[in-house]
Amino acid sequence: MDREQRLLQELSNAFGPSGFEESIREIVIRELAPLSDSIQTDGIGSVIASLNGTNSNPIVMLAAHMDEVGAIVKLITPEGFVKIQTLGGWLDNALINQRFIIKTRNGNVLGFTGLKTPHVMKVEDRNKIIAASDIFIDIGAKDKEDAEERLGIKPGDPIAPDSKFALLNDEKIYLGKAWDDRVGIGAMIEVFRNLKNRSTHGTIYAAATVQEEVGLRGAHTSSYTIPAQIGINLESGIASDYPGISQEEAQAKLGNGPGILLYDSSMLPNLKFRDLCIDTAKKLKINLQFEVLSGYGEDGAEIQKSRSGVPTVAITVPTRYLHNHNSVINRDDFDQTVTLVTEIIKNLDTDTVEQLTKFS
Ligand code: CO
Repeated sequence: MDREQRLLQELSNAFGPSGFEESIREIVIRELAPLSDSIQTDGIGSVIASLNGTNSNPIVMLAAHMDEVGAIVKLITPEGFVKIQTLGGWLDNALINQRFIIKTRNGNVLGFTGLKTPHVMKVEDRNKIIAASDIFIDIGAKDKEDAEERLGIKPGDPIAPDSKFALLNDEKIYLGKAWDDRVGIGAMIEVFRNLKNRSTHGTIYAAATVQEEVGLRGAHTSSYTIPAQIGINLESGIASDYPGISQEEAQAKLGNGPGILLYDSSMLPNLKFRDLCIDTAKKLKINLQFEVLSGYGEDGAEIQKSRSGVPTVAITVPTRYLHNHNSVINRDDFDQTVTLVTEIIKNLDTDTVEQLTKFS
């Protein structure tokens, strides 16, 4: 196993629903600190690292979010079952009959979302989707007191999927939870590693943001902190190369190269910067996939709307089955994303960035 695989595996396995990013923040700081000239956290917990270039300008902001979709404990029933409040965009049918970890003051507690056995179900109920509001976590407690006293569970405790990284019958196909957006975090770290050994034109910032899945909140504050002149958000793209999903819904294929978002519900990319990315990929002979996603928001939107407006693009690593216990990426796509973003940043000098923002 090489360094990148070890890093991606650790990032995927790490516990970190929105607002509870401690474990992942530790990894990010451990990895970025030796590669950066400064590193700090902002008022809501995003990590902001910077790397000095030959000049102070241009100021480039890279971003990726640390959090994953998860939940918190809403209440414990008198019988000792946990009711939840979801954090982020879960489908109701992704929540049922899955294992979860609840992080408590006593440590991690295993639980799973119980589903009534079909033997006792009315025929008309058998095909019904169980609403998130009806879902409960069985933690094997005797009653509420046992859940609170012995297991240490209390309202507000964070909950994340219990899923472990695995190779999916191919050394390049990585199965795991939270690729949205741990794959972006991994790519950002590797881009910083590449840049550390070369001199860049300006100052490069890396923002590992919190609370993206509940409304791009960390990107909002880190864009305020970083005086960015140009922005690149690193995200998981949406692969549509499995049964039951169409090219109308999403366009990327696993193993076919990095993606660039031409449209998502939160942002339109700066057109000149978009073309610079396309040209750079062509020069590197990297196939860049175009993504047009009508139901998707990302941190780039906050960078773009910050200050007086920042030209921004979102570069993606195509991912199957986001926002689930299990999702899949291809290692080649990851490597090519790192190569592409490194090269894009290398080419960003003051003149180029000035050109990108010229509208008249
Ligand atoms: Co995401």
